[in-house]
Amino acid sequence: MNNKINPSNIQQLKFIIQELCKKESFVHHQWFLEYHLEIVELLALELLQYYPSADKSIVITLVWLHDYAKITNQDKKNSSYKEVTKLLLELNFEKDQIDEIVISLKAIDSKDIVLIKDSSIEIQIVSSADAASHFVGPFHSIWLYENPNVTINKLMESNIKKIHKDLHRKLCLPEALRFVNNRLNLIKELNGEIPSQLITPPSINS
Ligand SMILES: [Fe+2]
Repeated sequence: MNNKINPSNIQQLKFIIQELCKKESFVHHQWFLEYHLEIVELLALELLQYYPSADKSIVITLVWLHDYAKITNQDKKNSSYKEVTKLLLELNFEKDQIDEIVISLKAIDSKDIVLIKDSSIEIQIVSSADAASHFVGPFHSIWLYENPNVTINKLMESNIKKIHKDLHRKLCLPEALRFVNNRLNLIKELNGEIPSQLITPPSINS
C-alpha cells in the first residue's frame, strides 16, 4: 500500500463504529465500546511503540473494524467483508487500502497463529491487542452477567477455553504475552482455577 490512510477518514470510521456499538440492537451495547474496543486501541497504541516501522493508520483502522461483523449482528464473516468494503468506499478510502484492510481482517479472523505470525506486523499487533484486551477490565465477568441462565461452572469453563484460545491462537507478540502472563494466574482463579496454596509463598513446601 503506497499511501497512509487519511486521519480524517479514520476519525469518521471510528465515529461510525462508536455509534453502532451504542445501538440497543447490539447485544453488547452496554460495554463493548468502553471495555473492549477502547482497550484494544490502548494496547495497540502501546504495542506500536515497540514496532515503530508499523503503519499506525492501518493498525487503528483494523482495531475499529476487527469486530464489525459482531457489532452489526452478522453471522457470516464473508458478508461482513463486503459490508466493510462498502463502508470504506463511502468514506473515500482508496482501493488498495481497502484491499489490504480486508485481507488483514481475514487473517485476524482466522485465529490461525501460524498464519498470523507470518503476516504483517500490523496484523500481529491487532490480533495480540485483541487477545490481551480480554485480560483487562471486566471482560470475563461480563460473560457471567450476560448469561444468567447458564450454571456458574459452565460459564467459568467457557471463560477458561477463551483464555486458551487467546493465548494460543491469537496472541503472538512477546510484549503482549508478557503483559498477559503477569495477570494470567489471577484471571484463571477468577474463573475457578483455585491455586493449591494461597498464603504460603511458593518457595515453601514446593
Ligand atoms: Fe475483539
